[in-house]
Amino acid sequence: MLREGEFDIDIRDDGIEVWVTQMGDFMNMNTAIIDRINKIVAIIDPFDSERWFDVLKKEGLCPTHLLYTHTHRDHTWGYSKMLKLVPNIEIVGHEDAKVDVSLGGELFGKVDFTHTWKNAPNSSVKWSEGGIILEVTHSPGHAPGHVTFHGHGIYHAGDLLFTAYSGRVDLPGSDSNAQLSSLKNARRLLSSLPKEWRLIPGHRYEWIDGTTPDWITIKDALENNFSLNDRSVTSSSS
Ligand SMILES: [Fe+2]
Repeated sequence: MLREGEFDIDIRDDGIEVWVTQMGDFMNMNTAIIDRINKIVAIIDPFDSERWFDVLKKEGLCPTHLLYTHTHRDHTWGYSKMLKLVPNIEIVGHEDAKVDVSLGGELFGKVDFTHTWKNAPNSSVKWSEGGIILEVTHSPGHAPGHVTFHGHGIYHAGDLLFTAYSGRVDLPGSDSNAQLSSLKNARRLLSSLPKEWRLIPGHRYEWIDGTTPDWITIKDALENNFSLNDRSVTSSSS
C-alpha cells in the first residue's frame, strides 16, 4: 500500500510512464501519464500540486496537462495551486462538468477548463498528446460531466467506481439513472480491456477482504466489485 505521497511508477513497453499516488485525508488516488521524450505530463485530479511539482522537477519534468474526472472539490483541490506553479498549463474536463458552484455549495470546486470534451454519455473520445493516448468515456451519474480514462495499462475510474463499490448518487447534481447506465457501460468497457490492467479508483476505500489496496486488476473488478455485479447492472436491458 502506498504511503501518503509515495509514487508507484510503471514504465510501459512503449516508454510511456504511469505514476500513481495517494494523497490527502480523503484518500484521493492521482494518476499521471508521462511521455518523457516529449516532456508531456498529464495528471488526473491532482490533489497536492506542490508535491507533484517538486517530484517532477527533480526528474527534469513539469506538469503540462490536468485532466479532470469531475469537479467535486476533493478532486479539484490542487487546481489553484497548480495554476500558480504552472500558469500556462492546459486543463481539460467534460463540458457538462462546468457546474455552477451554487448547485452544491462547498461540493464543487471552480476550474477554468482550457479545453473540454463534449461527447455524449457512455461514448468515448480519444485524448492524445505526444505518445500518450487515452480514451475518455463520459460516465455521468455521480457528478455531471464525470469521465473515466483508460490506456497505458490503467483504467482511472474517478468516483464512478472504487475497488468494491461505486460512487454515491445522493449528492446535488447526481443522477441515479445516469449512474446505472454508466455502470453498465463500464462493465462492457472493462470486459474489453486486458484483464491484468489496473483499475485505479478515485479514492482508496476498503476492498472486499477488508484491506485497502491502491488498485485492483480489471479481472478482480469484474469478478468482485459489488456494483458491477449488481443485477441491475448485469441485466441486459438498458
Ligand atoms: Fe466525487
